[in-house]
Amino acid sequence: MTDKQAYNITVLGGGSAYTPGLVAGLLRLGDKLPLARLTLVDIDEHKLEVVGSLVRHMIETSGAAGASASGSSAGSVTARTQVTLTTDRLEGFRGADFVLSQIRVGGLKHRALDERIPNKYGVLGQETTGPGGFAMALRSIPVMLDVARDLQRVAPEAWLVNYTNPTGLVADALHRYESGCKVISICDMPMAVQFLVSKLLGMPMNALAVDYVGLNHLGWTRHIYHHGVDLMDQLHGMVVQLMQLGPAIKGMIPKELGIGDEKEIEEIMVILQMFHRLKVIPSPYLQYYYYKDETVKKQLEAGKTRAEVVMEIEKDLLGFYSEITRDKKPELWKKRGGDWHADMMMGLVAAIANDTHETYIVNVPNRGAVDGIKYDKVVEVPAVVGRDGARPLVVGRVESDMLGLMQVVAAYEELTVEAAVEGSREKALRALSIHPLVPSLDVAERILNDYLDAHREYLPAFSR
Ligand code: G6P
Ligand code: MN
Repeated sequence: MTDKQAYNITVLGGGSAYTPGLVAGLLRLGDKLPLARLTLVDIDEHKLEVVGSLVRHMIETSGAAGASASGSSAGSVTARTQVTLTTDRLEGFRGADFVLSQIRVGGLKHRALDERIPNKYGVLGQETTGPGGFAMALRSIPVMLDVARDLQRVAPEAWLVNYTNPTGLVADALHRYESGCKVISICDMPMAVQFLVSKLLGMPMNALAVDYVGLNHLGWTRHIYHHGVDLMDQLHGMVVQLMQLGPAIKGMIPKELGIGDEKEIEEIMVILQMFHRLKVIPSPYLQYYYYKDETVKKQLEAGKTRAEVVMEIEKDLLGFYSEITRDKKPELWKKRGGDWHADMMMGLVAAIANDTHETYIVNVPNRGAVDGIKYDKVVEVPAVVGRDGARPLVVGRVESDMLGLMQVVAAYEELTVEAAVEGSREKALRALSIHPLVPSLDVAERILNDYLDAHREYLPAFSR
């Protein structure tokens, strides 16, 4: 049973190419999440218009199939669902029950700089891991703190579902500096790994329970339970067999798993390689630690950064979206991100709305769940989700290799958050210089100087 007849959901950064996929997830939820109003907020009017028109079209056409003519609650997203597009954040917050944040401060242009600058010094250039994530944190955190303040002013009861990156650091900042804000931070990666595992085992995802621990983009699946039986050894045995096939596995992925996206295929390959050798399943982002040299080498050889590739993907997608809306060509439909992206974000919203107490892997303050990590540090762990938010489940002891890496990255994250809030160059340098992927204090300083310069317009706290 839902508390309300219908909810108002606002998507901040709603002009993103991710939004249509998100709306498709919303439609899949059916009457688990009745929707009165969907508001897309974006500062980019063009993207807002293109994506907003497609979203309107999706909702109108789904309404024809799903709406109940009598006006009873059977229809979830229906032709009566109001779709509002606005560039005014406060307008989007008024009356909202849930605000989903997917903003990218500085856009892909500044992501490209995040990635390019460390590459100049032979260091990893990645959206969220290493120096790239550090720079993104400096830009995202002040804006997200403003968002949290605005939301508390205009719609204090609303839930902020955050996946603005770097999710873990943004979550830390929100819990530490805007503790009145009702926020849960999430990432689709744990669910993507769960999807892979369920495919390999040939079992439905919801039949499996996972033992997972980490920080965002730095997590490990340690056990997989089916009716209380740990299937990890069985799964490892399967993967050992699979790895004997060598590079041929890559060709099997699209057919066996239904995944055709090149980046996702590469991620699955590297997950399998790491799992094969370590007997735990690392997040694909751990490749940057377990294969430090190899991943940097690959980047330097590629010539293009991921942000530059994504710019092309986005351009194509926006083109398709306009065409679908204009010429009604549903065959052009393509989304950004796997289905689990939307299933995770929207599933979490439905779990809060319906007080389901389902388990989701989310980013929340530790509060004693993980031994050896500070009480208030945000960790990524399974949590029970309901009307009152996310309550982390006890993880307890963590193996030394994982805990050691978590602790040093947690220290880097804590200092980075303080640097972002205080505009402290000193803390920023100390944070960056202890990051495991930064080779020296000198290199840290060069990267920091370049970032402060390149992102100046987004880092007002540092020019004060
Ligand atoms: C995954 C991560 C996100 C990240 C995205 C990057 O979905 O969980 O946090 O933003 O990948 O993908 P991209 O296609 O932009 O490189
Ligand atoms: Mn993520």
